[in-house]
Amino acid sequence: MKMRLILSAVLSCLALGAACAEDGAAGSSASPPAAYSPDLAELMVGAQLRHFKLAFAGRLQNWDLAEYEVVQLRKNFADAAHYFPNFQNVPVAKLIREYSEPALDDVSKSLKAKDSRGFQQAFERLTEACNSCHQAAGMSFIKVRVPTASPFSNQVYKPDR
Ligand code: HEC
Repeated sequence: MKMRLILSAVLSCLALGAACAEDGAAGSSASPPAAYSPDLAELMVGAQLRHFKLAFAGRLQNWDLAEYEVVQLRKNFADAAHYFPNFQNVPVAKLIREYSEPALDDVSKSLKAKDSRGFQQAFERLTEACNSCHQAAGMSFIKVRVPTASPFSNQVYKPDR
């Protein structure tokens, strides 16, 4: 009984599948939705958020959370370089490769070594890399700094231990 139910379910799926394929062919004149492509400013707001969380996690020696935020920042930058290799004549991909990535590598190293002082220095360098690119883009009015207070009081930055 059970077997027959399964079999009939499989058969009706196959029949539906064929019908669906036909529908697809008939409806192919409708253009597919354009793939989502991020806006550079949106990627940057993401970077700003991670930059902030990284600062707090590192300051409170939550090394795991800090490394997690480094990974997220790398993804933000990889997307920025991929979608906007050149943004208004600014070689975004090149600047990321030459400044941001080495700065992030240093941050990562300090986290692996659980080195608070090293983290602080690497984080300052990362912040300078952010601002150097904004200057190169003629947007020196976008200036980030090492954060002083948490605007996200809904997340716990201190590690459990
Ligand atoms: C390789 C170049 C580059 C790097 C590196 C870079 N930015 Fe940006 N950033 C830009 C550009 C270009 C814009 C303007 C984007 C636009 O207007 O679409 C921008 C815009 C911004 C904005 C404004 C977004 C808004 O809507 O208010 C913030 C905040 C920001 N960046 C933060 C950061 C932070 C934090 C870092 C470092 C962790 C960083 N950026 C690193 C190029 C860069």
